[in-house]
Amino acid sequence: MRNAHARANEETEMNFANNTLALLGVSALVAACSTAPSTTTKVTYDNGIRQLVDKRCAECHGSDAPSMEAFKKDQEGYKAKKLGPRMDTYENIMVMVNGSDTGAMMRRLDDGANTKDNQPGNMHKYLGKDDAERAANLALFKNWVGGWNLKRAKDITEEERKSVLAPRN
Ligand code: HEC
Repeated sequence: MRNAHARANEETEMNFANNTLALLGVSALVAACSTAPSTTTKVTYDNGIRQLVDKRCAECHGSDAPSMEAFKKDQEGYKAKKLGPRMDTYENIMVMVNGSDTGAMMRRLDDGANTKDNQPGNMHKYLGKDDAERAANLALFKNWVGGWNLKRAKDITEEERKSVLAPRN
């Protein structure tokens, strides 16, 4: 027979366990909110994109990668070295968003929803280690860019270009 004292102890332990679980739940939520900018937070280069590019693209597009100008002169050579044009600063990344290589970022990252052949762009795979992470990071990029458009500089309309926002901060 267990006595009242032992039962009371058990209850205290259970309450403690429940409270601990609840606390863990709350702290996990807080942690999730602080690392991934939610849809209500404005996505900017400084808040979200720079960190994502550092983590998932810098290996081949970091500060040791060529400028766009240099890259264009020897694409095959750089490709063989697994180096693409440099994306280490806001200015360098904007070349591929809304500059001389307008839409390149969108063409390469799209999941196939907007591409002509319905195939994902060839950099889409680098957005994450699984489908869920890739989808979330594509959403982050789309949110940042605003008017998600795959057209080249010669085809894009003034109106479409204006809808590309991609704010720095
Ligand atoms: C393993 C190396 C590697 C990683 C990681 C990588 N890339 Fe690339 N990327 C390349 C290479 C090499 C090229 C050039 C060859 C080509 O055009 O496919 C390239 C080309 C590109 C281009 C086209 C540039 C242009 O205008 O010609 C874009 C845009 C791009 N990458 C974006 C990204 C983004 C964004 C990420 C991160 C989510 C990323 N890449 C991750 C290697 C990489």
